[in-house]
Amino acid sequence: MAPTTRAVIDLDVPGPTISRHLYGHFAEHLGRCVYGGFWVGEDSEIPNERGIRLDVVEALRALRIPNLRWPGGCFADEYHWKDGIGPREDRPRMVNTHWGDVEENNHFGTHEFMDLCEMLGADPYVNGNVGSGTVREMSEWVEYLTRDGDSPMVALRRANGRDEPWKVPFFGIGNEPWGCGGNMRAETYAELARQYGTYCRDHGDNVLYRIAAGAADDDYHWTETLMKAVSCLGCTREPKQFFQGLSFHYYTFNGQWADKGSATEFTEDEYYETMAKARDVERVIKGHAAVMDVYDPAKRVGLILDEWGTWWNVEPGTNPGFLYQQNTLRDALVAAVHLDAFHRHADRLVMANIAQTVNVLQAMILTDEQSGALVLTPSYHVFAMNTGHHDATALDVRLLDGVATRTVCTPRGEEELETLSVSASTKDGAALVSLTNLDAQDDTRVVLDLRGRDVTGHRARILTAPALHDHNTPTRGDAVAPRDHDGVRTHERGLVVDVPAHSYVTVRLELA
Ligand code: AHR
Repeated sequence: MAPTTRAVIDLDVPGPTISRHLYGHFAEHLGRCVYGGFWVGEDSEIPNERGIRLDVVEALRALRIPNLRWPGGCFADEYHWKDGIGPREDRPRMVNTHWGDVEENNHFGTHEFMDLCEMLGADPYVNGNVGSGTVREMSEWVEYLTRDGDSPMVALRRANGRDEPWKVPFFGIGNEPWGCGGNMRAETYAELARQYGTYCRDHGDNVLYRIAAGAADDDYHWTETLMKAVSCLGCTREPKQFFQGLSFHYYTFNGQWADKGSATEFTEDEYYETMAKARDVERVIKGHAAVMDVYDPAKRVGLILDEWGTWWNVEPGTNPGFLYQQNTLRDALVAAVHLDAFHRHADRLVMANIAQTVNVLQAMILTDEQSGALVLTPSYHVFAMNTGHHDATALDVRLLDGVATRTVCTPRGEEELETLSVSASTKDGAALVSLTNLDAQDDTRVVLDLRGRDVTGHRARILTAPALHDHNTPTRGDAVAPRDHDGVRTHERGLVVDVPAHSYVTVRLELA
């Protein structure tokens, strides 16, 4: 008999809005993400429109991806945007020193990226160069992208075939300035964020949401230093907002940085270690949010996790600088518990970008180098099952009657891992409940104690597989794929849901 947990959900008590931008994505000039992933060029045999792969676009449109961050990552701080405009054959080449030391021919540049965003129906999140760029270069990029009328950058854009300005809501001021973005101290970067933020102008009706580059993991000193740069404790006047968002990065891996473990070969103990690290993201979100609350109780500055996901040792035989890894059921469960944590902290966390969309790290899509075949990963399916949470109203979930735990050995010491995660939201006369059972062996059962509104119907879906390391390949594309779940029955308190070992379940409720 599976243990039972009670999940109390007040369907009529609205929480904050779960921004759809929490389901954002990231595409860097890294390995085969842009080249071979999104971009194959107009002469490719792979069906494309103006060089952009149509099967990738179609798969991502089904996820309703809300935004796409580009061109990095570390690459952003050595990218000079003027190298990526004009006739492709004339564009200067460079070496991508961060990622694989390979030639970058700049064939995918500003126009190609904006074209891709239009095809995806996604908002562009352009990341500017602080580490090796200039204020002028960044300021001119914003002008090139967003200004109308007559100006030197508008004339240049028009000469390159684009008359109308684009809409660019999100603009990043550098990336990881504490590391690959310039090895700066927080105090130095805080001044630069103010300076660069000043010259990233709003042109016409394009209002930029400027995102300052934030901390690694739980470096709260970084967050505090940046928050001080846009706040003034005890001041009566509102301080100037040089940036509207502040990011941080959080990756999940096992062991130490130098040896993060295999994507597909792992023991049960290593699986639990992964899950402990994944669930720890919630402590880190809360930590940054608490610092921000001190300086910005009105929550004017948004917290943004613009890089997250699993980071394993690269697939054997591939370029170590390309960060290509397989994606198993374990990765899907990592995604599921992250997204739950995002829903729970949607009052401060307003955007997140999984790294990275195609062929790099925790990808949604893998493309086969030889055949060109496209594979949807287990992580893709979690995002697909969760589209009902986009822009929905978060509902609080209280877990009662004991939540199962596992004792896990981690590099941080012994930890108790709660193996059940539940989140919920409501939108358009329905509610969506997400339930993850992280236990590798044991099934669990959850009574949904539904209060405040009548439920007139339900439909459940499940993502699981026989083994934790199961994954999809070109020849077995649906080894891990969602299907209808018949483990839901009515109960005096609402519904009872069976959540098998290592599975992700969503229950959609129709509300009266
Ligand atoms: O996503 C891969 C890299 O991870 C990014 O370029 C960098 O920002 C981070 O360290």
